[in-house]
Amino acid sequence: MTQIGVLVGNPRPASRTWHAALALRDAVRQVLDVPGDGPLVDAAEFAQEVFAPGGERVRAVLEELGRTDVLIVASPTYKATYTGLLKAVLDQAPSGWLRGKVVVPLQVAASDRHALAVELHLRPLLVELGGRVAGQGIFLNESALTVSPVELTAQLVELLDADALRALVPAPIDTVSPVR
Ligand SMILES: Cc1cc2nc3c(=O)[nH]c(=O)nc-3n(C[C@H](O)[C@H](O)[C@H](O)COP(=O)(O)O)c2cc1C
Repeated sequence: MTQIGVLVGNPRPASRTWHAALALRDAVRQVLDVPGDGPLVDAAEFAQEVFAPGGERVRAVLEELGRTDVLIVASPTYKATYTGLLKAVLDQAPSGWLRGKVVVPLQVAASDRHALAVELHLRPLLVELGGRVAGQGIFLNESALTVSPVELTAQLVELLDADALRALVPAPIDTVSPVR
């Protein structure tokens, strides 16, 4: 089964970015036509431990997320880039952590002035870790987040590059037609 994980690096728990990332996961499921279970990680829940020596929790979370096929990595835009919390978590990822994974970057911002931050900053970080990004990273202005989750998912389906996503994520074995 295709595993679709979520990592949100927002110091504020259960944030709008978190809800947008969950809607994006539903959109990815729809595009790939898979149930897409997988770990959902809100880094705010263990922010205190990110700089603790030995950081067991961070290591365990990265290991779990590293087993997914598709990973949504989301952050609010802070100071024209992404959060320090997300960077501090990902700085602990082993090299090649995302090798063989498809990643979908998402950034939420208050201003369209920073609409390209996801492409200019978050995307290179995820590529450095070995991830393959399907199409462009997703940018959402927070003013778009007042709609229902179902409506947001529908909008995100339109924003995703469905062809790129389907090309990068292999269909689960049990849905592939047998060779005749
Ligand atoms: C410390 C901080 C820095 C921010 N920097 C920017 C910024 O550079 N550009 C921008 O458009 N929004 C910026 N914002 C606004 C957030 O990106 C925006 O409100 C986002 O929707 C917050 O997501 P959340 O509601 O999930 O926490 C900043 C917010 C904070 C708290």
